[in-house]
Amino acid sequence: MLVTGGAGFIGTNFVLRIAETRPDWRVRVLDALTYAGNPDNLAGVADRVELVRGSVADAELVDRLVGESDVVVHFAAESHNDNSLDDPWPFVETNVLGTYHLLQAVRRHDVRLHHVSTDEVYGDLELDDPQRFTEQTSYNPSSPYSATKASADLLVRAWVRSFGVRATLSNCSNNYGPYQHVEKFIPRQITNILQGVKPKLYGQGTNVRDWIHVDDHNDAVVTIVEQGRLGETYLIGADGERNNREIVELLLDLMGKPADWYDLVSDRPGHDLRYAIDSAKLRAETGWTPRYRDVRAGLEQTVAWYSGHEDWWRAAKEGAEATYQRLGR
Ligand code: NAD
Ligand code: TYD
Repeated sequence: MLVTGGAGFIGTNFVLRIAETRPDWRVRVLDALTYAGNPDNLAGVADRVELVRGSVADAELVDRLVGESDVVVHFAAESHNDNSLDDPWPFVETNVLGTYHLLQAVRRHDVRLHHVSTDEVYGDLELDDPQRFTEQTSYNPSSPYSATKASADLLVRAWVRSFGVRATLSNCSNNYGPYQHVEKFIPRQITNILQGVKPKLYGQGTNVRDWIHVDDHNDAVVTIVEQGRLGETYLIGADGERNNREIVELLLDLMGKPADWYDLVSDRPGHDLRYAIDSAKLRAETGWTPRYRDVRAGLEQTVAWYSGHEDWWRAAKEGAEATYQRLGR
C-alpha cells in the first residue's frame, strides 16, 4: 500500500493504526515533508514502513511508486484554509496537479486508489438548515483549499467514468486527535491554554463544525478500501456538530479555566458557517460506526496527548502563531 501524505496528521494516525491492526500489509509512505509533515511521527514503525520523501506533483516518482503498489491511499494535500487564503498556489500544485499525476499513474498501472477528501467541497449550510450534506449534495466550495479539493474529487470521478480507474472517494468532516498541526483550531486552543494564552475564536465563535476523532475517520477509510464499491463516494461523519465556542468551553472546562476565558478575534474572509454530514450510506453498506461518540471524551484524550508531547509541538507553535499575528487572528 502506498500512502501519500503519511507523515501528516491523518496520514500518520492511519499508518500507525495499519501497522497495529493489519500487520501483514506492507506500507510505503510518499510525503514531501512540508511544514505539515514530520518524519519523527513514523519513527516507531520505521522497521516496517518505508518513508520516501518526494512530491505527488513529481510525475516520474509517482509513476514508479504507484507501479510498485497494489493500492494507493491518497491523503497528501495542502490542508489549511487560512494558508490557502494567504497563498493559494501550493494548494493548486499539490491538491490538483498532484492528484492528476496519481490518477495518470494508477490508470497506467491499473492500481486501486482511495482518494481522501473533505466535506468542505459542498460549501456551507445555514445554522438552522435541517439538511445535512449527503453524497447527492452539489459541489459549491468557498475557499481556495476547498476549491482545489473539489477539483481533485472531480478529476477522480472523471478518471473513473472515462478511463475505468478503480477508485473510491470519501469526504469527511473536521478531524481532531493526536499529531494535528497546531495551526488548526483544536490544537491551537489546547496549546494556547497550556502556554497560559487565551483561546482565539474567529468572529463570534458561532460557526459550526461536525467533529470526528481521527481514528474513526481512518477506520472508515480502511473499511472503504476493503468493502467500498468501486466508483462510489462515501461521506464520513460522527454526528459531532458543535459551534466553535462550545468546543472552546469544553476545552476550558477540561483544562481547569473559566468558561469565558477566550478572545474574539477578526473573522476569516469567506468563513463557512456550518458543515454537517449524513453518513447513512457508509453505515448501511459497510456497518462502519464511530467509536468516539462523545466529543468530550475524545477531546479529553487529545488534551492529554498535547499535554504529554510539548516537545512535538513547541517549535511549530512559534511559527504558527507568527503567521496568525501577521494575519491579525
Ligand atoms: P496535514 O496538512 O496534516 O498533512 C498533509 C501531509 O501531506 C503532510 O505530511 C505534508 O507533508 C504532505 N504533503 C503536502 N504536500 C505534499 C506533496 N506535494 N506531496 C507529498 N506530500 C505532501 O493534513 P491532514 O489534516 O492530515 O489531511 C490529510 C487529508 O485529509 C487531506 O487530503 C485533507 O484534505 C483531508 N481531510 C482532512 C480533514 C481534517 O479535518 N484535517 C477532514 C477531511 C479531509
Ligand atoms: P480549522 O481547524 O482551520 O478547520 P476548517 O477551516 O477546515 O473547518 O477551523 C475550524 C473552525 O475553527 C473554523 O470555523 C475556524 C475556527 N477557528 C477559530 O475560531 N479560531 C482559530 O484559531 C482557528 C485556527 C480556527
